[in-house]
Amino acid sequence: MLVLGIETSCDETSAAVVEDGKKIFSQVIASSLKFHKKYGGVIPEIASRMQAEFIGEVVAKALNQAGVGLKNIGLIAVTENPGLVSSLLVGTSFAKALSLSSGVPLVYLDHIKAHIYSSFLWPNTGPQMPFVSLVVSGGHTCLFYVRSFSEIKLIGTTVDDACGEAFDKVAKILGLGYPGGTAIERLVKERSFKRINFSCGKEVSGFDFSFSGIKTAVLYYAKSHRPMARNEKINIAASFQEAVVNILAEKSLAACKKKRVKYLVVGGGVAANRRLREKLSEQAKMSDIRVYFPQKVLCTDNAAMVAGLGYRLYH
Ligand code: KG4
Ligand code: ZN
Repeated sequence: MLVLGIETSCDETSAAVVEDGKKIFSQVIASSLKFHKKYGGVIPEIASRMQAEFIGEVVAKALNQAGVGLKNIGLIAVTENPGLVSSLLVGTSFAKALSLSSGVPLVYLDHIKAHIYSSFLWPNTGPQMPFVSLVVSGGHTCLFYVRSFSEIKLIGTTVDDACGEAFDKVAKILGLGYPGGTAIERLVKERSFKRINFSCGKEVSGFDFSFSGIKTAVLYYAKSHRPMARNEKINIAASFQEAVVNILAEKSLAACKKKRVKYLVVGGGVAANRRLREKLSEQAKMSDIRVYFPQKVLCTDNAAMVAGLGYRLYH
């Protein structure tokens, strides 16, 4: 069955055609990122206005590139929550109109669960159930215990900022631009650095996270080291990244052990981070746990994950 996915929860407008929850026939992602850059974060009013402008064209392109028409589509899947309200409304209203006019059934999906599904899209297959999933994005940091895609239990979350949000704020403090995760990764690369002792959420118990403390620590450190040479920026960015990656790896693997599962599925924008991939893979190996990452293009917001989850839940 072909599913048309539609995703408009943040700054992206995306549509994709996916076959049987696996094979991506087409995916179009239009971003309004460049219009937000000068503000250092996404401005909801700008995002939704651009989405209202793009959505028709993006959906038409996705159908065209897949070489199909609406008559070939068995299901429309759209992100309903969570996200920016005005942006979500553009996607859900468009999908509803499309469904009513064509008679193709429509389902509403959870964006975070769709991030988990990214590791199940071709060429990846995802693990057997049950597994633990870490979703790290600009708006969320969650650990889930997943028995099936309809039985997903939250076992840990952030008590303040989201992980990607911390990357964005630290990048802003260092004057690196938005989005912060990619900017920090680009600056740090494989360069050697002098470690600054930033701690990340050590005071939060169980499987919860905290990122606001490290952001403030970076802010005070940066303020007391101005003007800042490039090397000092690298030291700060790399030490921050290292502290964040360590806590994500530590808590995710501890959750796998507690739940006695052998598989960890990672998703969300921060899952694209090279150091996180390296660290988690290394440490998981030592605990005999297998880690699954989506392809990099499927880490950040995309409609293929929505179409895939739609098929898995409703076909
Ligand atoms: O999943 P996503 O596209 O949107 C939300 O659902 O929030 O995630 C966007 C977040 C941003 O905060 C961005 O800085 C972060 O993912 N991000 C990264 C990387 N690429 C994107 N963080 C760390 N390393 C990266 N390579
Ligand atoms: Zn997302």
